[in-house]
Amino acid sequence: MIPHFKQIIEYAAMAPSGHNAQPWKFSAEGHFIKIEPDFNRSLPVADADHHELYISLGCALENLILAAAHFGYSANVHYDFNGNANSILIHLFETETPSEDALFEAIPKRHVNRAHYNPAPIPTDMMEELKTVAKEEDVDLIWITDAGLLEEITALTKEACRLQFANEAYKKELLQWIRFNEKTARSTNDGMLSESLDTLAVPTAVGAFFFEKFVTPRSESNKAEALIENSSALVLFTARENTRENWVKLGRSFERFALAATLKNLSHSHLNMPCETASIREKMKDLLRLQDEPLLLIRIGYALEQMPGSYRRPYEEIISGKLEI
Ligand SMILES: Cc1cc2nc3c(=O)[nH]c(=O)nc-3n(C[C@H](O)[C@H](O)[C@H](O)COP(=O)(O)O)c2cc1C
Repeated sequence: MIPHFKQIIEYAAMAPSGHNAQPWKFSAEGHFIKIEPDFNRSLPVADADHHELYISLGCALENLILAAAHFGYSANVHYDFNGNANSILIHLFETETPSEDALFEAIPKRHVNRAHYNPAPIPTDMMEELKTVAKEEDVDLIWITDAGLLEEITALTKEACRLQFANEAYKKELLQWIRFNEKTARSTNDGMLSESLDTLAVPTAVGAFFFEKFVTPRSESNKAEALIENSSALVLFTARENTRENWVKLGRSFERFALAATLKNLSHSHLNMPCETASIREKMKDLLRLQDEPLLLIRIGYALEQMPGSYRRPYEEIISGKLEI
């Protein structure tokens, strides 16, 4: 076993994931690490086709490769999604000339910030630079800054929000992943702290009561509108076609983008509702005249306040038995 594999896996697990469900399992043997989906941690309502789950695995993979480079290893990645296969195998080998990427430093600093942002425009050369950092085969990203387009995407996001929050199953699933106070978050080491969702820390029963009563299609769609208004731009990540491999690649591209943005003091948060709702996803495709699949929508800008991050499960809980190659 290579000496640094525990640290490498811990960096991988700092990746973002839908609702911070951390839907991954790792195994390691010799110079190989395997990442597999953990379907016990999937989101069957919000992410019925699992595209967000595989995007999250892609984010973890990208962190893993950056951390491996930091510890002196190059990575060969093999996507194994043929038939019933469902994993990513990474072969690490020592390099004579380590090539550390500056993005590595951003891994522990990156987190979503759901606060309002200063909507000052982002310089064009910075937007181009971020697009270049995120370059990945079979996926693409689109900067959305045009006022008319932003208005139309806001309308679609609000429509998706209204549909989702009118669905009791969606609300129930979301509630399962909200941690209303530090103590609960610490006990599970997953889920989203209510304070990071811009809500107060309260006992769980109180939080659940207010969630049921005051989190409505109207409140959430208005919140989404305000968040878009208070952002510099939206960024939409797309994939050529819907395959598990492309979803993972999209996650890698998004993670590099998020890490590079972090190094530039730019914050981001997700507005994934229009990509989660199939009918609205189609409307997005029509609006933007896309051939590709729109799968991840984020907002970006200069945050007006910092927000708490989120916890991760320890190494012992994410490592599964011995890797069989
Ligand atoms: C594929 C994907 C989809 C996400 N969708 C949303 C979303 O719709 N709304 C939201 O507020 N956060 C969303 N998030 C952000 C996660 O909730 C966040 O990454 C997680 O809570 C961990 O927090 P951190 O990114 O600050 O480490 C998404 C993240 C990923 C990777």
